[in-house]
Amino acid sequence: MKVLVIGGGGREHALAWKLAQSPNVQRVYVAPGNGGTQRDAHLFNVPMTDVQALRAWAQVEHIGLTVVGPEAPLAAGVVDEFRAHGLRIFGPTRAAAQLESSKAFSKAFMKRHSIPTAAYDTFTDPKAAHDYIDRMGAPIVVKADGLAAGKGVVVAQTLQEAHEAVDFMLLDNTLGVSHNADPSGLVVPRVVIEEFLQGEEASFIVLCDGKSVLALATSQDHKRLHDGDQGPNTGGMGAYSPAPVVTPEVHARAMREIIWPTVRGMAQDGVPYTGFLYAGLMIDAQGAPKTLEFNCRMGDPETQPIMMRLKTDLLDVMLAATEVDPNGESTGALDRMDLEWDRRWALGVVMAASGYPLNPRKGDAIAGLPQDQQDAMVFHAGTLFEADQLVTSGGRVLCVTVLGDTIKQAQQRAYELAKGVHFDGMQYRQDIGHRALKN
Ligand code: AMP
Ligand code: GLY
Repeated sequence: MKVLVIGGGGREHALAWKLAQSPNVQRVYVAPGNGGTQRDAHLFNVPMTDVQALRAWAQVEHIGLTVVGPEAPLAAGVVDEFRAHGLRIFGPTRAAAQLESSKAFSKAFMKRHSIPTAAYDTFTDPKAAHDYIDRMGAPIVVKADGLAAGKGVVVAQTLQEAHEAVDFMLLDNTLGVSHNADPSGLVVPRVVIEEFLQGEEASFIVLCDGKSVLALATSQDHKRLHDGDQGPNTGGMGAYSPAPVVTPEVHARAMREIIWPTVRGMAQDGVPYTGFLYAGLMIDAQGAPKTLEFNCRMGDPETQPIMMRLKTDLLDVMLAATEVDPNGESTGALDRMDLEWDRRWALGVVMAASGYPLNPRKGDAIAGLPQDQQDAMVFHAGTLFEADQLVTSGGRVLCVTVLGDTIKQAQQRAYELAKGVHFDGMQYRQDIGHRALKN
C-alpha cells in the first residue's frame, strides 16, 4: 500500500519513519516533508500543501491511506475533502477539529458534557474582559480564540499582564492571531479568559475511530524555551515517554472523566470524532486531571519519543482506525487492536534555530548528524537541502530522540548525540526529562 503523511515537521518525520517499517507499506510520501524525509531512502517528499491539490494527487497515485500531522490542514477540511472522494484518511473532520481550532467551541463542549476543565468566560468586548479580570484577580489565563501557532495563550501572573493580553488580542492583534469566524462568517476577535490551574502537565493522546478509543503511551513535553521551564512558551523543546505523573489511577481517571465523555459527547452532538485526540492535562496534587486544551492531532515533539516506543505495526493500527463499510460509514475496528510498547524510556531533545520562537533564522548549515539507528534517531523539522547542503529552514530544526533503559540513560545518550550536531545559533535545553528524573 502507498501511504501519505501530510505535514513537514518532526512529528511527520517520526510518523513516516514508523509507517515505512510496516512490511505492507510499499511507499511513504510526505507532503511537503523536510530535509530529513528527503534524505531518508524509504520516504518521498511531495512538494504540495494545498488540500485539493493533495486530494487530486492522492487519487492519481492510488494512495491507500493518508495520515494528517498538523492542525492547519485539518481545520481547512482535508479529511472532509479526502473522504468526499472515497479516499481513506485518518484525522478529524473540519467540524470535529474545532475541538482544537476554536477554544470557544471546546470550552462550551466541555461545559455541556461535564468534562473537567478550568472555569472560564468568553469575550469580544474589551471592557467586559477587563472588568472580568479585575473581578477574578491574578494569576489568570487569557487565550485567543483561533489558531495562533502557540502564541495565543498568556498565563498572566499579574493583573497588568492580563489586561495587556486582552488589549493585544482584541485590539491590536500584534501576534497575528487568526481569529475564528462566527456562524455568520464574520471574523470577530474573541478571547477566552480562564481560571489558573495548578499542578503538573501531561500529554494524553489517544486514537479514535468515532466510537472506540485506544490510548497511546503517556508522555510529557517541555514548552518553555529555557532550562528549569523558564522563558517564553514554544511549540515544545523536548519530550519523553512514559510520563510518571500519569499513574495507572490518573490514567483511568483521564479515560473515564475526559476521553470517553469527549468521544461520546462528540458522537451525541453529531460530530463523531476520528483521528488522534490529544488532551493536554493538568494533574493536581490529588491526582485529579483537568483538561487544559484539546488538540486534534498528535503532539510535536511528543510523537517522536512515542513512535520510538511503539512496537505494533502503525499501518495496521491506522487501517483499523479508518475501517469503513461499503457505504463509506466508519465502522471502526480500534476495539480489536492492542498496542505493544517498548518498555524502555524514550526521550527527545529539540534543537532550535537562533531566534526561535519569535524570529527564527533560516539558512544555517547543519553538520555532524549521527547515523540513524533503530533506537537513536534524529527526526528533522525545519531543515531542507540547498544544493547538497542541509540547512535550517524553521524554528524547531531537529529532535534527537533515543531509547534508554532508564530516563537518566536516555537523557545522557540524547545529549551525547546532540553534542556532535552543529549549526550556528542553535539552542537546546540541557534538562529535558528533569521532571521524570525527580520522581
Ligand atoms: P494551551 O495552548 O491552552 O495548552 O496553553 C499553553 C500552556 O499554557 C499550557 O501548556 C499551560 O502550560 C499553560 N496554561 C494554559 N491554560 C492554563 C490554565 N488554565 N492554568 C494554568 N496554565 C495554563
Ligand atoms: N507539544 C505540544 C503540542 O504539540 O501542542
